[in-house]
Amino acid sequence: LPALLAALIFGYLLGSIPFGLVLTRLAGLGDVRAIGSGNIGATNVLRTGNKKLAAATLLLDMLKGAATVLIAGRWGPEFALAAGFGAFLGHLYPIWIGFKGGKGVATYLGVLIGLAWKGALVFALVWLAVAFATRYSSLSALVAAIAVPVALYLFGLHDTALLFVVMTVIVFIKHRANISRLLSGTEGKIGAKG
Ligand code: G3P
Repeated sequence: LPALLAALIFGYLLGSIPFGLVLTRLAGLGDVRAIGSGNIGATNVLRTGNKKLAAATLLLDMLKGAATVLIAGRWGPEFALAAGFGAFLGHLYPIWIGFKGGKGVATYLGVLIGLAWKGALVFALVWLAVAFATRYSSLSALVAAIAVPVALYLFGLHDTALLFVVMTVIVFIKHRANISRLLSGTEGKIGAKG
């Protein structure tokens, strides 16, 4: 158990790196938390108008999840799960910036890539389909995050499915404000400045 806890903490520390904040600061765009939704994720970085920076945020927030899982997985599958969950929590509650982090979607996907690439494929396809149809990043993530645990269960990956049930619930909780905006028709569409 102490070893599993160590894997979780390892993941947490890596997941805590707030790439959206770091990149926008380095690019001299100021504090991304002061614009749009106030979030530090790629969707909100895109609201600065800098597409490359948004893409880099998405990739790096995914990479920290995937890398954590792949590194910890060398000690066994249960360590991969623990470290992946840690990375996800780290993105949400980053130790480096007062525990006020992001909504976890990119890191969720990165962890999924590391644990079960087929599940990541399901996420990506569902996300793209909903985004194409509606242009809402949040809605795309929410629908994809429902599909993932179901798909993992159907693939026979029961432990991973259970972890993703928990992570999906947390993603929904983190999107409370987005959900009320979607319901009231005031949610910003992808790329729209807000
Ligand atoms: O993936 C993050 C997205 O679901 C919501 O981002 O900035 O629109 O709250 P944002």
